[in-house]
Amino acid sequence: MKLFASGLVSALLLVGAVSAQGSSNRSGTRVPSLIDPRTRFTNQVILPDQGFPGLHRNWDPPLDSGEESYVGSRRLRGRKALITGGDSGIGRAVAIAYAREGADVTINYLPEEQPDADEVRALVEREGVRFHAIPGNLRNESFCASLVHRAHRAMGGLDILVSNAGYFVTHFNISTLTTEQLLRTFEVNVFASFYLVRAAAPLMPPGSSILFTSSGMARRPHAAAVDYAATKAALISMAQTLGLQLGPQGIRVNAVAPGLTASNFLTSHGLTTENATYITSQLPLGRIAQPAELAPIYVMLAEGSSSQSLASAYGVNGGNLSL
Ligand SMILES: *[C@@H]1O[C@H](CO)[C@@H](O)[C@H](O)[C@H]1NC(C)=O
Ligand SMILES: *[C@@H]1O[C@H](CO)[C@@H](O)[C@H](O)[C@H]1NC(C)=O
Ligand SMILES: *[C@@H]1O[C@H](CO)[C@@H](O)[C@H](O)[C@H]1NC(C)=O
Ligand SMILES: *[C@@H]1O[C@H](CO)[C@@H](O)[C@H](O)[C@H]1NC(C)=O
Repeated sequence: MKLFASGLVSALLLVGAVSAQGSSNRSGTRVPSLIDPRTRFTNQVILPDQGFPGLHRNWDPPLDSGEESYVGSRRLRGRKALITGGDSGIGRAVAIAYAREGADVTINYLPEEQPDADEVRALVEREGVRFHAIPGNLRNESFCASLVHRAHRAMGGLDILVSNAGYFVTHFNISTLTTEQLLRTFEVNVFASFYLVRAAAPLMPPGSSILFTSSGMARRPHAAAVDYAATKAALISMAQTLGLQLGPQGIRVNAVAPGLTASNFLTSHGLTTENATYITSQLPLGRIAQPAELAPIYVMLAEGSSSQSLASAYGVNGGNLSL
């Protein structure tokens, strides 16, 4: 089976949070229930009819980026994080998780995504940490550099960079994949990551962490993803090379490779509810991911205690064996 997996993808419904009941041990103290990965979220996938880039609020039932479900424990207290694509999907889940772990958060997004960014602001500020929103297009090289400098100035430092924003439109025939689209996919997914790291590395102290959102498609591509899959493979390679380059200065660089994940990313690259339903039926857990399920690995890799994790790629793909 060809899995249409991508860095920030699709739509699923939340069936209800994990049971809050738990069970009691002998002294009567509540312990958390096991979380069954098959049933934590519903397997129903309904993609909203929306154009690019889409909005979180258009999903019904709603996506879960951890708004109600993520429980933090101050693991990133005092950290200062810049997250691109932090308004929705996986980036939003990372922004919420980082805030609940005690980090100050700056997000970047496209101006059209302001309503989503406003929601993230409310969610982050509720945690008592500082929030900054810097809209702008990552295809612009000088914007990428200025984004890093503005985030650094606003937060009074920068020690976590999550280059997460991505672009993808499916094309089944190379004859119709235009040079314009090829460039755009590489500009957003690869060049921006390069520009961001080039600007950020001199500002980041030892102990800092850089994360790229790659995709299961880096190793297990779909035929309609000629440009996109190449960019996601490039990000794994860049996590390795930059990890080797920056390791000696105490900066760890890694990539996360998600499988098919419910988000606006799915609708903007042309997937339908039928596509998502078919893919879902082929997966070991019988469902695709909610963005909230990606957040824990971004937290773990950003933590100083992950001090041996660098120059690597980590798959979070529901058992689709791409990484
Ligand atoms: C029950 O849970 C409490 C709190 O986690 C713990 O202190 C206690 O040792 C546990 N008792 C048993 C029998 O596991
Ligand atoms: C690119 O970004 C720079 C810095 O933010 C800005 O001054 C410039 O107007 C942008 N260029 C375009 C074409 O948007
Ligand atoms: C791709 O497009 C070209 C030009 O339109 C066409 O000749 C070719 O048959 C198409 N290939 C496939 C696999 O559809
Ligand atoms: C989505 O479904 C349509 C209709 O069944 C199909 O033609 C198309 O190839 C599917 N797209 C992907 C990316 O699988």
